[in-house]
Amino acid sequence: MPERPNAAPYSASGGPVPSPPPPSRWRRRRPARLTRALKFVGLACLGFIVYAQWRQISSAGPRRNQPSLLSVDKLQADLQTCAKLHKKPQDPAGLGRERNARYVDGHKPTLIRNATVWVGEPAEGTSVEDAWAGKGYAWVNADVYIEYGLIKKVEKDIALKSLASDTHVWDAKGRQLTTGIIDMHSHAGVDSLPELEGNDDTNEMSADITPYVRSIDGLQPQDHQIQVIKSGGVTTSLVLPGSGNNIGGEAYPIKHAVGKPDGRLEISVADMLADPDRNWRYMKMACGENAKRVYGKVGEHGPVSRLGESWEFRHAFETAAKLNRAQDDWCAQAESRGLESMDTYLPQDLKWESLGAALRGQVHINAHCYTIPDLEAFVDHTNEFNFSIRAFHHAHQTYLVPEILKRAWGPTPPASALFADNMWYKAEAYIGSEYAGKTLWEAGLTPIYVSDNPVLNAQHVVFEAAKAFGYGLPYAVALASVTTAPAERLGMGERLGKIKPGYDADVVVWDSDPLSVGAAPVQVWIDGTAQFEDPVELEKPIKGPIDPKTTFDMPEDEPSEVADVVFTGIATSYIPGLETAEAPNQDNLTVAISKGKIVCIGACPTELAAATRRVHLQNGYLTKPFTAFGSLLGLNAIDAEDGTDNGHSTSQFSRAADGLRLGTKKLRYAHRYGVTRAITAPAFTGAGTHFGVSAGIRTWGHEHVLEAGAVFREDVAVHYTLQEEAAKAGSGGGTVSGAVGMLRKKLLQAVGEEVARSGNETTDAFSEEAYLRRVVHGEMPLAITVHSADGIASALKLKKQVEEAGQAELTVVVIGGAESHLVADELAEAKVGVVLSPLQSYRTSWDQRRALTGAPLTNGTAVDGLVRAGVVVAVGLEEDWVVRDLGLLAGIVWRNSEGRVKEGEALEMVGGECL
Ligand SMILES: *[C@@H]1O[C@H](CO)[C@@H](O)[C@H](O)[C@H]1NC(C)=O
Ligand SMILES: *[C@@H]1O[C@H](CO)[C@@H](O)[C@H](O)[C@H]1NC(C)=O
Ligand SMILES: *[C@@H]1O[C@H](CO)[C@@H](O)[C@H](O)[C@H]1NC(C)=O
Ligand SMILES: *[C@@H]1O[C@H](CO)[C@@H](O)[C@H](O)[C@H]1NC(C)=O
Ligand SMILES: *[C@@H]1O[C@H](CO)[C@@H](O)[C@H](O)[C@H]1NC(C)=O
Repeated sequence: MPERPNAAPYSASGGPVPSPPPPSRWRRRRPARLTRALKFVGLACLGFIVYAQWRQISSAGPRRNQPSLLSVDKLQADLQTCAKLHKKPQDPAGLGRERNARYVDGHKPTLIRNATVWVGEPAEGTSVEDAWAGKGYAWVNADVYIEYGLIKKVEKDIALKSLASDTHVWDAKGRQLTTGIIDMHSHAGVDSLPELEGNDDTNEMSADITPYVRSIDGLQPQDHQIQVIKSGGVTTSLVLPGSGNNIGGEAYPIKHAVGKPDGRLEISVADMLADPDRNWRYMKMACGENAKRVYGKVGEHGPVSRLGESWEFRHAFETAAKLNRAQDDWCAQAESRGLESMDTYLPQDLKWESLGAALRGQVHINAHCYTIPDLEAFVDHTNEFNFSIRAFHHAHQTYLVPEILKRAWGPTPPASALFADNMWYKAEAYIGSEYAGKTLWEAGLTPIYVSDNPVLNAQHVVFEAAKAFGYGLPYAVALASVTTAPAERLGMGERLGKIKPGYDADVVVWDSDPLSVGAAPVQVWIDGTAQFEDPVELEKPIKGPIDPKTTFDMPEDEPSEVADVVFTGIATSYIPGLETAEAPNQDNLTVAISKGKIVCIGACPTELAAATRRVHLQNGYLTKPFTAFGSLLGLNAIDAEDGTDNGHSTSQFSRAADGLRLGTKKLRYAHRYGVTRAITAPAFTGAGTHFGVSAGIRTWGHEHVLEAGAVFREDVAVHYTLQEEAAKAGSGGGTVSGAVGMLRKKLLQAVGEEVARSGNETTDAFSEEAYLRRVVHGEMPLAITVHSADGIASALKLKKQVEEAGQAELTVVVIGGAESHLVADELAEAKVGVVLSPLQSYRTSWDQRRALTGAPLTNGTAVDGLVRAGVVVAVGLEEDWVVRDLGLLAGIVWRNSEGRVKEGEALEMVGGECL
């Protein structure tokens, strides 16, 4: 443990507070009757004893000391505060409660019949080692009885006559039932959606160190996203302040039940608190890039570097520790010498109260720290000031340094609150691994998956756990990472995270295994109250739990090139002409590949016999490779780092082909996940916006663009952005209407020139005008990035106006399309295709506010509406990290389409020859 020569005065936070050395007079006046046990057990009555004693002294005659001018009442209140200061919170008990403190009178008991239940604990008798390894867990058939907001019974065939007569019976029909999902990192309510400046209460940016602010004071119960999140089975979220500040303020775990429709008495944040008794407090801290970027002012104040940030932390801890020490001294003196001896009140300072409480071990600290230096410095602070940390969040590099985590102060090392595969967005997120959770768990540490909502849509936080399972975390550990693990880290492990008697009745019944692609709740209960009155239930076959496969082969880090290879275990092929539909009842086909070509599919006995390299697959799939459309792949390596980025321009029309930079990690990973091509346009105002001509590139095997095949098409489409927020930044002069008008003017001008020149080439074939002439001539697609229904309508009108003025039909594609389902028929009629990016909008911006978030809240999502209307749909990606997930996104489309989209068709949406 590192020792610092100039360590600040300490205050204990873990164990009992050590008594300061008693002042010499103390012994004379009162024998040491106050044992430590009394001090901690009997503090409540202490106030009274001291008061009585004082009264006695006062009435016994003149006092030795000058009479104090301090208020007796206030001094007594201060002494009671001493008891509070030294209180060590315990995890609140679950069992033994008659009713949940959150229970609302009048709500009837519920019996959920015939469910396949995930209890959240291994079978009795499972050893600690086996339990850690994820063994001994199982889905069991049971009924679940909930009453007074608590789970009362989890048993097979509960007899109805043994229950209250007004019990509501709900048939789960054998479907899977878990506890409510817990998201340990959310900004729901403080960073409301759609994002509006007036509603942004994420970071208190008046200062870098703001332990004194509280997320509860800005939490909007009516943030619609709170409902959307719940529709993904999430019943509890820790709502943290943002990560702009080194010390961001207090956080609160809430449940996602708001107001009368959710069975509550009122709309109130206090009503949403997961633990109304507030046994524990919570605080957000953050290291790394943010604070120095947000606050530092060179020559004026810090932090401008990580060095300065550590100073900010240590200085804050020192200040709070000093306050604690002064309080402890005051309390010790008041207790030993009596209040009449006090010539001051208890030192208190609201500014440092919460941080003082943190150092006293009453606050669960959650710190956003990515990199090794950040983690190590923070662990250093925990040991300098003796406080523990519950979890490092974002924590991308924790998997590299388990030993540093184990050095943190306190009995248990911090958990790592992670994304499954969202990374590369800034320098501190550049090093990361989708196998981080697995690696941490193998090192004896706890991975937890979180959303950072709205960074990820917390509705799908369980999908993060599902991906972690896909990346090798054992099934039970993956489920624990969004249930029992966060419950324990919140200090609520006896109330949340399990389906057992005594636990809060937060229950989800799923339409398919929660760790399978596209899983959605059928119904959600919070404290025993069903949350959806009329939930949309997708038609899905009830298949039961997926195979919790127990072996996992870590893929090779680098791709290798082989001349000949044979794959066995192919269950499904979607290679045109080689579809398995033509060879049904085969789940173990062999595919032989020689010199880059498929030479055999089927039994292939000759190739199998001759094979030098064989790979056996489980449930192998053969598909065309995927294409990443609309990302910045090839133009950017680290999103937030200018030096790695082609940049963005709202005025300079350009060609992606002129800005390509190959050889990036993103491209390498794209290839690794089956994405061999990317179609990339220059950015307009940033990621997810486009302006200029896109290029088609191959993702792997090329160091630079001159290598043969690196660029498969120089010019793919001509892109403009009419997305409301961004459109104003362009040549339209600050209005959306101006942006539409300007694009129309340019197109009509191109029509005019086209007619006048009758095909004459211009001097600059690469100018905006030249490309637009190709567009109006129908030779190049026009891709318009826009989300709102009316924005899309503008694009359709433009198309018509330009076509009427010219002679050719325009090929128009919409990118974005959050609200495209509202104009699905019009899109179909105009033969305009949509590249949904993202596939599942969650109304992040105003112009996406009518996006469909899916079952159980809405009947399908945009893709379903578009497919029904006959619109050609592709799946794009707004952010580059999604490149790993394209196959999974196709899976979601397929699984949740109720049979409208065939698996092969869904794969076409991420692979076909779009444009
Ligand atoms: C801090 O904790 C260490 C043990 O972890 C202990 O030795 C030390 O006395 C503590 N310091 C204070 C001031 O409580
Ligand atoms: C439970 O559900 C399964 C699957 O739907 C069904 O086969 C079984 O009959 C049900 N059992 C009872 C007792 O309802
Ligand atoms: C969803 O919409 C489709 C098409 O309009 C309709 O056929 C279906 O019944 C709807 N499902 C539900 C559960 O409302
Ligand atoms: C699949 O086929 C290959 C080659 O015919 C054979 O070696 C292998 O044992 C088969 N595996 C299964 C699970 O049937
Ligand atoms: C086409 O180009 C030729 C040669 O540059 C020029 O003479 C002619 O006027 C042009 N035609 C039109 C319609 O601009």
